[in-house]
Amino acid sequence: MKRSPEWNDMYALGIRKASTSQPPVEKLRDPSKTCGRLFGHLDRVLERLKFWKIFDNIEIEAPGNDVQGCIRVMATPKRKVRERLEWRDDDNHMEAIGKKETKVKFALYDVYETVAMTTVGKKETEVKFEATFDLSTSLGLSAVQKSQKGVYMSCINGLQQLFPSEVGTLEVVVGSASDLARRNKSLFTANPYVVLAVNDSRPVTTKICRHSPNPDWDERLTVPITSRTKCMVFTIMDRKNVGQDGVMGTAMVSLDELTSNKENQLSLDVQGGGTLNVRLYPKMHDKPREAVEQDDKLVKEIAVPFLAPVFKAELDAIKDEFINLVTAFMGSGQKYELRRPARIQSHPDVPMEELPAECVPLPAAELFSPAKFGVHIEKIMDFVESQAGLNVRLMEGQGTWNPWQAQLGRYMPVNERLIKEWHTDEEFCRQYLQGTNPMVLTACRDKSRIPAEMLELKGQGKTTLQLMEENRLFMVDYAPMLAAPKKPGKCFYAPILLLYKEMLPDGDSRLNILGIQLTRDKIKNEVYSPETAKTHPNKYLFAKMHVMVADSNIHELLYHLGYTHFTMEPIAVSLHANLPPDHPIHRLLLPHFKDTIGINHLGRHTLVSRVFPLVEPLFAVSIIGTYTILINEYRKYNFMDMAFPAEMKRRGFDESGSDGLQGYFYRDDGFQLWNIYKTYVTGFVDKTYASDQTVTADQALQRFCQMVEGPGQLHGFPREISTKRLLIDCLTNIIFTVSAQHSALNLPQYDYYSLVPNRPFNLSQWMTDGANDMLESTILDALPPPSMTALVILLAYLLNIKTETPLVELSALQDLYPDVHDQFMKQIYCLSEEIKARNDQLETEGKVPYAYLDPNNVAISIDA
Ligand SMILES: [Fe+2]
Repeated sequence: MKRSPEWNDMYALGIRKASTSQPPVEKLRDPSKTCGRLFGHLDRVLERLKFWKIFDNIEIEAPGNDVQGCIRVMATPKRKVRERLEWRDDDNHMEAIGKKETKVKFALYDVYETVAMTTVGKKETEVKFEATFDLSTSLGLSAVQKSQKGVYMSCINGLQQLFPSEVGTLEVVVGSASDLARRNKSLFTANPYVVLAVNDSRPVTTKICRHSPNPDWDERLTVPITSRTKCMVFTIMDRKNVGQDGVMGTAMVSLDELTSNKENQLSLDVQGGGTLNVRLYPKMHDKPREAVEQDDKLVKEIAVPFLAPVFKAELDAIKDEFINLVTAFMGSGQKYELRRPARIQSHPDVPMEELPAECVPLPAAELFSPAKFGVHIEKIMDFVESQAGLNVRLMEGQGTWNPWQAQLGRYMPVNERLIKEWHTDEEFCRQYLQGTNPMVLTACRDKSRIPAEMLELKGQGKTTLQLMEENRLFMVDYAPMLAAPKKPGKCFYAPILLLYKEMLPDGDSRLNILGIQLTRDKIKNEVYSPETAKTHPNKYLFAKMHVMVADSNIHELLYHLGYTHFTMEPIAVSLHANLPPDHPIHRLLLPHFKDTIGINHLGRHTLVSRVFPLVEPLFAVSIIGTYTILINEYRKYNFMDMAFPAEMKRRGFDESGSDGLQGYFYRDDGFQLWNIYKTYVTGFVDKTYASDQTVTADQALQRFCQMVEGPGQLHGFPREISTKRLLIDCLTNIIFTVSAQHSALNLPQYDYYSLVPNRPFNLSQWMTDGANDMLESTILDALPPPSMTALVILLAYLLNIKTETPLVELSALQDLYPDVHDQFMKQIYCLSEEIKARNDQLETEGKVPYAYLDPNNVAISIDA
């Protein structure tokens, strides 16, 4: 057998080895199986591992043992390949395969491939491919190389996409440029410099060549090459003395075009005009380095702030939970048990035990279905893909609002309307009626709630008090934010916002801003109003953004997480613990608790984890602020008072719309849904219980209530239910909260949070004092950095999963009480049609539709 030395170097095009973060191999096996266990639902990911997928399709010809000399037949999507296993060394994880047939039509003899997998570190497996053969023509070599290169690279790229590492460095000498395009034809005033961006590392910049049409930078730069690097982009910028730097042109080089460990001299055509001369020297590491700088940075940003005070006991508690979960899989039966939240070791002063009880350990039956898990992973992969080349896009829009558009544009769904309108007062007010947090607006009928500084405001010529007397004054008071401790880098207020019903010339009306007061403790607190915008537009915008910081924190952590996810969990647990599966209430409620315990468990170990809380870097109030606000507000919580009609009434809204606000679709659709639910539950209760006495006599029901109110700590839940009416109220309240209420708070998240300036979770700057307006650049600097922005968008994107079980598919009573079920379905279909017709009309008028409470979209349960 002759060997061809060239062949061993066949993929010397930059990357020679694939490194995976999997555990070291223990025996010869297909790495795609390991990946497959993690990403089993992602056909697209497995598609990237084409080479290894061959192993999945392997068949051994008769007599059938995979031993030396056997013939393996591998069916790929396009062809079948027969190969002879020449030898296999399981100890050293190597095998050699003799090709029986090749696609290349040249005289090739004794073609052998070897695949070797070697453990090179605790988390690293090196995969090497080599082939040897005797060839009779040099033409044959290039043909085989071309044929096989694609297969190998497909596998290597697939692994490297999943497990990135630094594989080398790229030395770049940015030389000269000529004939660059000039914006100003009369006089060359450009000051060109070059920004070099390799898609997943930080861009680097050359010096500026002032006033030169043919600049010569002659500057040497070094950038890391990661296993994800595919290309590098040279952006020639023009440094402006005033305003934003302009882009003169771009040029791109694919890594595949370069020869590694050798200088590559290139003359690049600049898109936009001109030529750029560069020399590129890719130096590949012998061994891939595990971490890349950006990954390290991201982990540190998330992990460090809260990891420091973590005690071992916290980690042990999590370990115990995990062991219990595994034991539940192995053991018999599933237990649903409630536990009062324990205090956090590092913050023993926070009375966590006052919160609603939680289901610990997680019953195995509450784990997400593989299909749901797969959808989540797929969305993460979509998102990761969208982040490729982000630095380049951010660089293109540096110093403007565009980076946020760049973050999304071309890859993720973009709310183009919001990008245009988010900063307007009209859109700001509209979101209180139709946005993601429609539960904080209150009709203001009490003068004592209005700060003195805000009494001087005027809207349509009327003073604050006159507007109040005309029932046109509305308020949002973010007082709960006062409980959160201040932390460095987190700037937030507990604002007071006054709004008023503005009468329009056509007889319609809309909400408008009367004023914003951010502080409460100064001798004279500044008030920002549309009048402020005339002279201090940036300060006014920044005040509105700070209101949105408070609103976002309150919406996500108190109303969404606290008042829906956490408060409903004790009911879910008690349902399983006390009501047997054939109990009518069990049958009624069971679908309404699909995935709720599982999603809460996930939230407790991610968003508000005791060890690694995403809330810490993301939200203004941090993790302790989150729990402090939750505990403070939960002390005032009452289950019955939070029933939709009662909660609306407390804020000054009723079914008849006596508040006079137009476009409060959450109110309109909410009341309709509440009434349909109530009819449905009444039908159910009437058929199940003949009288109040039969309700009282239902011991399982009474035990259910006692557990929710007692160990479950759900304030205001009746300890005993002795009348049909109370039972109807309770069940309607439960079903409405887990479906309509949660959907109204959950479904709009991506629509409004994906544009970060519209609803930032945190700003890193306080409002400036003094008579001057703020600089726009100060506002931009206050917004979260790209990594946090990416995380926010990822979270919103993950939560934006269409439910597996919309309300229109509810079948809980289909067999039990078909007439009750049929009437319910008829009513919700009618409501859905009504909402659709209204939304069509709104779109015809160029207005924003509100579809979050359409029964086609409402989720039956808290499942996201
Ligand atoms: Fe949710």
